[in-house]
Amino acid sequence: MSASAKSEPPIMEKIVSLCKRRGFIYQSSEIYGGCGGVWDYGPLGAELKRNLRDAWWRTMTREREDVLGLDACILMNPAIWAASGHVATFADLMRECSLTNKRVRADHVDPQDGILMNYSGAQSATGWKLPRAIAVLMKKGEHIESFRKRVRLLIASNAGEAAGKPEEIELLDETKGDTVEQSIDYHPETGAALGEARPFNLMLKTYLGPTATEADVTYLRPETAQAIFAQFKNVFDSSRVKVPFGICQIGKAFRNEVTPKNFTFRSREFEQMELEFFIKPDEAVEIISGSVAAWSEGADLSGPKPDWGWQMWHRYWVDQRTKFYQSIGLGDVLEYYWQSPADLAHYARACVDILCEFPFGTEELEGIAARGDFDLSQHQKHSGKSLEIFDEELKTAATALTEEAKEALIQRRLATELAKEKGALTEAEVRAWFERLCKGFYLPHVIEPSAGLDRMALAVLAKAFHQYEKEDGKGKSETITILRLHPSIAPVKVGVFPLLKNKPELVSKAREVYQLIKGRLNSFYDEAGAIGRRYARQDEIGTPFCVTVDFETLGEQGEELKDTVTVRERDGGAQHRVKISELTCWLANRL
Ligand code: GAP
Repeated sequence: MSASAKSEPPIMEKIVSLCKRRGFIYQSSEIYGGCGGVWDYGPLGAELKRNLRDAWWRTMTREREDVLGLDACILMNPAIWAASGHVATFADLMRECSLTNKRVRADHVDPQDGILMNYSGAQSATGWKLPRAIAVLMKKGEHIESFRKRVRLLIASNAGEAAGKPEEIELLDETKGDTVEQSIDYHPETGAALGEARPFNLMLKTYLGPTATEADVTYLRPETAQAIFAQFKNVFDSSRVKVPFGICQIGKAFRNEVTPKNFTFRSREFEQMELEFFIKPDEAVEIISGSVAAWSEGADLSGPKPDWGWQMWHRYWVDQRTKFYQSIGLGDVLEYYWQSPADLAHYARACVDILCEFPFGTEELEGIAARGDFDLSQHQKHSGKSLEIFDEELKTAATALTEEAKEALIQRRLATELAKEKGALTEAEVRAWFERLCKGFYLPHVIEPSAGLDRMALAVLAKAFHQYEKEDGKGKSETITILRLHPSIAPVKVGVFPLLKNKPELVSKAREVYQLIKGRLNSFYDEAGAIGRRYARQDEIGTPFCVTVDFETLGEQGEELKDTVTVRERDGGAQHRVKISELTCWLANRL
């Protein structure tokens, strides 16, 4: 590796630096030293996010007949989070440092070899007391005196002034936990031993109302999905829809992530774009259509069919979401991880993670889960309100079923329940459910494509980021940056320039062209510096087209070129001569 390649910052650092320099993403509260895991979007980032959000909303609801939108609040009745299981189980297993109480995710700890030294809580000669007994690992090969120095420093930095100067701290009651080298789990930063793994809930707590007692506790939503389930019946009753149909929502979600990392990839405040697509239970499909379509490689997923059960719907949504990612330029960096039965939540029938290639590895961009009727049945149970829907077509079809056919369906469902490790229905419950089904009543099942907007923005930025070296004409090499964003999501669509800043006729014509375009296509007017520099500034932020008003535009090179402009493409640099009267349409057709 050459010296210059060695000192080259990793690609993520370059992206983070570009994002700050050009106004895509800033650290939150930067002037106060930041706020862990929280990011703000600058002028270009806000446009990029808006374009992604609009693209998702348009494909998921506006262009479809069977999906409706919802805009629910972040704050909800805390009973929702008890019903959804978030209060009890939305947690990471954490281990606490015995000295500092700093937590670390249990699955991020690698055991290390060394000798464990135990110190009991005791009064030292300087009057400082160890807060509690601690155990610190003397690493393999570490000298005892340098180890003691390290422990003193560690204690001093965690006890502050109370500890006195590090060299004055006496390490009383030092006993070797084990003189034989052993492998133990210790905190990666402090070196102190870790406690047992305990669950740490990721929801951010707050209080509703002025009294702020325990009775007023609620949570900032950790996902947008639950509001959709809680409002399912209202949307169904007020919108004249039939199952299958979906409800989608875009909005903020909050998780007190233990280790926010990789820029915006894992943040504590982020935006989700979720669809809950409600389908008939497979038994209802079978009663109505006579059979349930089985999925096989190459199955026709072009459009929904009446005999689709959960499996076909699940595959269909994976296909739809893949097409969406292709439309924003991520088609060739996707991978799929089909969760194994051991990975699946007990209520989920299948879940696929759509993964994307990021500079730090291939990671999840979106999850698409088949969740059965778990969510609606939980909310029905906890709220005491029926969330069943009535299906006339099902009721009519069920009247034609023979008793043998009914019993066969019941037996099949019983066998499914028997195979469940958790949450299985009893025979009496299955029979009661089937009786309701034959009367046309059921809780719809759900397919849930759930995407993160911030991850999507990071994915398109990372995919678009390109740099190369170019000779600047004076023998010096300069680094050229191009963001090859898909034109449809680029924050600025068109840069508009007069060829020269000091020619009033060029400037006024360029301002005229800018006024003409900017209402329809987000545009940027620039007259500063050489034209090549202006192109470069736009390339760096991903602007797909630049329009230059030149002497041809003024008619100085012949009447036939009057009122035409030069349009230069970001990718490839091709140039076109376009009439100003046709310019907006010409550009819009290519975005
Ligand atoms: N309702 C299902 C649900 O919330 P999830 O896998 O926890 O599922 C869905 O989240 C998507 O939300 C993820 O695929 C990811 O894109 C995004 N997401 C989740 N946690 C995030 C975080 N801490 N920061 C940024 N995006 C996150």
